[in-house]
Amino acid sequence: MQLVMLGLPGAGKGTQAARIQQEFAIPHISTGDMFRAAISAETELGATVKSFLDRGILVPDEVTIAVVKERLNASDTANGFLLDGFPRTLQQAMALDETLIDLNKGLSGVLYIHVPEGVLLARLTGRRICKQCGATFHVVFQPPQREGVCDRCGGVLYQRSDDTGEAVSTRLEQYAQTAPLVEYYRDRGLLRQVDGEQSIDQVFAGIHEILGHLQG
Ligand code: AP5
Ligand code: MG
Ligand code: ZN
Repeated sequence: MQLVMLGLPGAGKGTQAARIQQEFAIPHISTGDMFRAAISAETELGATVKSFLDRGILVPDEVTIAVVKERLNASDTANGFLLDGFPRTLQQAMALDETLIDLNKGLSGVLYIHVPEGVLLARLTGRRICKQCGATFHVVFQPPQREGVCDRCGGVLYQRSDDTGEAVSTRLEQYAQTAPLVEYYRDRGLLRQVDGEQSIDQVFAGIHEILGHLQG
């Protein structure tokens, strides 16, 4: 299964991707996670992208496309992959199409987690992430058993620097560059829409059903 996940910031892409990865054993490839890892490892890529992530602005296409191309060439994508947060612009979508042609692959489907903008502020500002394993929590909607501590590995939970203040509204504005991808993939018969305003379990049940059909 070769999948793309689309949705506004806070729609639940990362939350659902973690479950899909577990259930269907395909690697979860999140450009946001890759950029944050590069920033904390203080690599050259991290230095390039830091100011974009801090402000909530999209990283330039050529940088992002190169990162994803390299990642899709890794051997663990042989049986499929789940792209979360890529593509985010029409140019990225076209570059993905070309890359997949070169790799002799095609997309199986595009999961579009649809939410109204009104739910996003609470989701983003309440999100907490494990420093150690990257697991996602929410202070109200998905609280850890012990406040500030990861259920899975005991790591410390932190708040993403772009989940507060100005960066949140910038990210929502930047989504205007991503919105046209809904039509792009609908036109190609690939779009599968899920109602993201339900509980995390219900959203996953919807995704599970869609992926069952895609697997045939
Ligand atoms: P990225 O990390 O991709 O951030 P994003 O798109 O803003 O998406 P989020 O991770 O915020 O949302 P999500 O949908 O994963 O939500 P989650 O599951 O965590 O990108 C960050 C930055 O990197 C960008 O701003 C840009 O600078 C750069 N970047 C990345 N990719 C790029 C690209 N392709 N091109 C250019 N630049 C790029 O859920 C959110 C919260 O809600 C959690 O706390 C969760 O517990 C809770 N929650 C989830 N589902 C539910 C539910 N059903 N009910 C209640 N609560 C829920
Ligand atoms: Mg995410
Ligand atoms: Zn953890």
